[in-house]
Amino acid sequence: MDEQKLIVETQNLLSKLLFTELDIPLLRSVLQFHENLYYVKNQPSITDQQYDQLFQQLKNLEAQYPQLITPDSPTQRVGGELADGFATIAHFVPMLSLDNSYNEADLIDFDRKAKELSKQEQLAYSVEPKFDGASISLVYENDKLIRAVTRGNGVEGEDVTNNIKQIRSIPLQAPFSKYGIQLIEIRGEVIMTKQMFERFNEMLESRGQAKVANPRNTASGSLRMKNPKEVAERNLDAFLYHISYVQMKDADSIGFLSHSESLELLSACGFKTPQQGVTVAKNIQEVIHACSEMEKVRDNLDYEIDGMVIKVNELKWHEILGMTSHHPRWAIAYKFKARQATTTLIDVEFQVGRTGAVTPVAKLSPVALGGVTVSSISLHNEDYIKEKDLRKGDQVIIERAGDVIPQIVQSLTNKRTGAESIIVFPTNCPTCSSKLEKEATEAVWRCTNIDCPSQVVERIIHFASKDALDIKSFGDANIRKFYEAGWLQHIPDIYQLPFDAIAQLEGFGKKSVEKLKDAIEQSKKQPLYRKLYGLGIRYVGETTAKTIAQSCNHLLDLKDRSIEDLQNLEDVGVKVALSIFNFFQNEKNVDMLQQLEILGVELNNYQKEMPNSGGLSGKSFLFTGTLPTLKRSAAEQMVEEQGGIILSGVSSKLNYLIVGEDAGSKLEKAKKIGSITILDEAEFLELVKNSATV
Ligand code: IVH
Repeated sequence: MDEQKLIVETQNLLSKLLFTELDIPLLRSVLQFHENLYYVKNQPSITDQQYDQLFQQLKNLEAQYPQLITPDSPTQRVGGELADGFATIAHFVPMLSLDNSYNEADLIDFDRKAKELSKQEQLAYSVEPKFDGASISLVYENDKLIRAVTRGNGVEGEDVTNNIKQIRSIPLQAPFSKYGIQLIEIRGEVIMTKQMFERFNEMLESRGQAKVANPRNTASGSLRMKNPKEVAERNLDAFLYHISYVQMKDADSIGFLSHSESLELLSACGFKTPQQGVTVAKNIQEVIHACSEMEKVRDNLDYEIDGMVIKVNELKWHEILGMTSHHPRWAIAYKFKARQATTTLIDVEFQVGRTGAVTPVAKLSPVALGGVTVSSISLHNEDYIKEKDLRKGDQVIIERAGDVIPQIVQSLTNKRTGAESIIVFPTNCPTCSSKLEKEATEAVWRCTNIDCPSQVVERIIHFASKDALDIKSFGDANIRKFYEAGWLQHIPDIYQLPFDAIAQLEGFGKKSVEKLKDAIEQSKKQPLYRKLYGLGIRYVGETTAKTIAQSCNHLLDLKDRSIEDLQNLEDVGVKVALSIFNFFQNEKNVDMLQQLEILGVELNNYQKEMPNSGGLSGKSFLFTGTLPTLKRSAAEQMVEEQGGIILSGVSSKLNYLIVGEDAGSKLEKAKKIGSITILDEAEFLELVKNSATV
């Protein structure tokens, strides 16, 4: 149906009083049309109420005639609960990453190689933003969205179709058959706009929950949520930028010959494609110009981009240029420089962490830096402040390297007026006033009073955190609130909270209390290593906790271990062994664990894996540097699934070191030891494949 007709039909439907099942197909087409206008084109032509009115009509009719519901109906976005975990699905074509360039010279080099290989004097490039979100692969068959898969390890990803259906700018149905296409795999990026990100954080704050750090992590985290309804609440968006696989009907020939034409096709089929900053450049000089123009205006966009992507425009060269094992030779990413801003260092606060470490935090005059407002930055320790010669009142340049954690680059000493003051490190704990201590070999001052309120709260926050007991709806703000109310003085109190009193607090309803109760209850059954990690014992990170938990039948077994026993475990050095030993020799800690057990927290290692299962059992691995296609966590999971273990440092106990880009001292150390097998990613994947037993 053409646009004009759909507009007329919309008006007819809006004024219609009596609906029958015969109206279902029309309602569906009209709603799909308006979803596209609203979510993809940003040009709604009816009001939200009018949309809701039609949506409700369709919902009513479908309730009466459930046999007429189709999977692509707009009502079907709100899907059911996902089963535990996500199925793993292989991509038709592996999802490669892109090679990076950082300056003009890199781009010229890329152009030179591409021209050499294609034997061309000149190549035209399409240039488009590099979206900073979560990559996704969509498959449409006979015009229907049949699945959506995360990038995963590049070869296979997770089936997140139900969650993707919550993204209104992704059509559930798209007219590919009009172009002779029967099956198509397309790639794109799921993002959260800056506006939605701010709104989402406001909402979290109003619920007393911890805020999220940045739009990218929120988008990628959302894709793996268990409940699609929660995904819908996040108002995600998606840009589609690549067709990776096409199967035509009959003997039709593909209707697009260039990348820019493929984007036009996607746009015509109802997808949001890159728009702002998109050009076809005749040569690399035009590419360079387009990139630098976009770098200037990146902050004006309503979504985060971290660079530009340059693709040889004519598709016939893609095949000829081919790919390395990591990335295509017909495309390259141009990464923007870290964003910088100048602001004033107003004051320094000293925060006490769970181990008593006192961290100076600079309070800045709030400044926008790449989509977020920065108003405080960690200054790490006393030496850092001295090295950077920072003073209160200084003008400082700050930077967000890799768009993650902001840092102070330098203070502008030539701008000093004389009104600046030296930053004095406290000698006593800012929370409990006990004397701070510093070990000779450390840069960190510590409060050694283990009952210090700041330490207690931080320990509870760590225990409940995502990588530990993962107690949802139990963020920092709530923990502080409950501590102040006197309900949460130490970790076991989590399991005896007065829920009736909590329900009376402002911002808490019956429902949210129920949710919290459930989350706390579920945490009791978390794997043992999470509980060990959650105790916050110094030097016991997640990996070490896994190794140690694996050696226990019960967490309290550890109180009978000697330092030597502990050191005999893979990857446990003297420092770690001593720290664990001391923790379990302290009766207060043992009491706490016994209390937890009485309160129902499972301390038996009921998930203990059988030794010698999996083809990599008995083998130890360590990853260093950035791997070209695999995420570190995915690679580590592959090892663990085959019974191998991950070590956190290079030692003679290590069997394999997997080396990515920018591998540093670990590689040198491994070479020196000599007995360690050094592999790149491709060799690692080969090893995993050959040793797979499950
Ligand atoms: S093209 C084979 N275009 O960047 C090439 N990727 O570092 C397929 N990305 O994994 C990718 N914006 O997640 C392409 N306009 C864009 C992109 C883009 C963001 C992401 C994508 C990819 C990563 C590569």
